[in-house]
Amino acid sequence: MSAIIIDGKQAAAEMRVEIARQVAELQASAGVTPGLGVILVGQDPASASYVTAKEKACAEAGMFSEDRRLSPDISQADLLAEVGRMNADPRIHGILVQLPLPRHIDEKAVINAIAPAKDVDGFTPVNIGRMLIDEPCYLPCTPHGIIQLLIRSGVETSGRHAVVVGRSNIVGKPVAHLLMRKAPGGNATVTVCHTGTRDLASFTRQADILVVAAGRAGTVTGSMIKPGATVIDVGVNRIPDATARNGFRLVGDVDFASACETAGRITPVPGGVGPMTITMLLHNTLESARRAASR
Ligand code: GUN
Repeated sequence: MSAIIIDGKQAAAEMRVEIARQVAELQASAGVTPGLGVILVGQDPASASYVTAKEKACAEAGMFSEDRRLSPDISQADLLAEVGRMNADPRIHGILVQLPLPRHIDEKAVINAIAPAKDVDGFTPVNIGRMLIDEPCYLPCTPHGIIQLLIRSGVETSGRHAVVVGRSNIVGKPVAHLLMRKAPGGNATVTVCHTGTRDLASFTRQADILVVAAGRAGTVTGSMIKPGATVIDVGVNRIPDATARNGFRLVGDVDFASACETAGRITPVPGGVGPMTITMLLHNTLESARRAASR
């Protein structure tokens, strides 16, 4: 079998055209330009490239973005002050603090400092709590992007078995919730596997929908996939490659070549989940600007 490729780049491009149209409409009707405040601490190349992609996407959608690239030595107090300043800035409707933060910074304290009304990443305890009890909230971008990809690709989730590999706060935990909630792209029976799981393959082989967010290349290979299953690969791993321009190439957590032999559909890396994450960030920022305009 040769799996159908789920094209996240294409789906994201279609959604971004619609978001750009709605941004222009909000500007015309309310005089409000959605604005995103972006904070990057340090010079991790992968984080820097994500942040640059997010800012470029904002500009293309007609949004305003303010970029703060801060020293890796910044104190916790100075970083909290930067978040506080963005909380108070009416031009900024969404705040994104790129994770991970340096070890001397208390990540939880920084996330907690983001005003929930501007938490377009959906990372604050208030947003996560609201999501869990199905109250209005900003859905975390990568999990929401995954659900949108499933819906747009016509993958039935209701009554199916979804297996999530990974239990992070950013992906594993929230995507498990979205897959199980009673809503489009949900209503699945969900199993969550993690580093404590014994015999991972015995679970992944039961999955109609397999979401892999383990953070390790090669976590899932073709023989671990049920024939015909839908595989969503959330991993982004840099592998040294002397033939590549940058000296590395990106691979997911799934061994793509062998997975294509067994899966029915699969997301590539790059060009699968990544572009959808950025799109859902734009979606949330637009939504926040709309709420600000109607206050
Ligand atoms: N680091 C990895 N993924 C994300 C994300 O979606 N948002 C932020 N802020 N940091 C990240």
